[in-house]
Amino acid sequence: MKKVTLHTLQQQKLNKEPFAVLTAYDATFAKLIESAGVEVILVGDSLGNVIQGQKSTVPVTMDHMCYHVENVARGVSTTLIIADMPYMSYATTEQTFHNAARLMQAGANMVKVEGGSWLNDTIEGLTQRGIPVCGHLGLTPQSVDALGGYKVQGRDDAQAEKLLNDAKSLEKSGASLLVLECVPSALAKKVSEALSIPVIGIGAGSDCDAQVLVLHDMLGLNEEFQPKFVENFMALAKGNVKDAIELFVKQVKDRSFPAEKHSFN
Ligand code: KIV
Repeated sequence: MKKVTLHTLQQQKLNKEPFAVLTAYDATFAKLIESAGVEVILVGDSLGNVIQGQKSTVPVTMDHMCYHVENVARGVSTTLIIADMPYMSYATTEQTFHNAARLMQAGANMVKVEGGSWLNDTIEGLTQRGIPVCGHLGLTPQSVDALGGYKVQGRDDAQAEKLLNDAKSLEKSGASLLVLECVPSALAKKVSEALSIPVIGIGAGSDCDAQVLVLHDMLGLNEEFQPKFVENFMALAKGNVKDAIELFVKQVKDRSFPAEKHSFN
């Protein structure tokens, strides 16, 4: 397989071919995910929850992120790697450039930041310096305390309009991808159609250009955490990890995942 680039993903959006994204935090899973045909790995700060057992992503640091990005990068050769910029690592311009460079040097191909149009200058500065950026709107876990919990976002007209405008401004500032987390399907469809960059959904319905899930969630490893938007692919694949990941890829590509039951209206 050829190296997946942003150009590849952009082309897939144009051709209406959805692509699959999974989180990974270590070399062994990264290799397995790549061999199952997943185009993009997100080294998410969800590692706070699923690796460290934290209650949120807030305690995750740059040192944690770099360690896991290095491990994932050793496991893959063709998959595109996105690395989350953790909590407060992009609060000032100086911090942003320094920390994004650390993630790129650890092996990432692009960085992801959570938030709306207040990030315009940050994204412009990073892209001018050759660092591709993925935005993240909707439920942004680093702001869980400000949002008052893990809730669906963009439910009323004013929120939906703000989210759409934020998405457009992130694209205008130079973002090459956008993650939309936990928003009603109709809004996600509207955003995906309005933007020319690929939109990656999680709990955002089947009309996005790509789908992402947290690896541990789609393998059903945490019995206490089974949100509506997650499918337990491990159960569907009768306990075989590689089959579970391949099934996820297949269902993303034929748009049978996410189904209506995984989506918010
Ligand atoms: O950290 C993460 O895994 C994420 C996904 C939930 C999109 O940001």
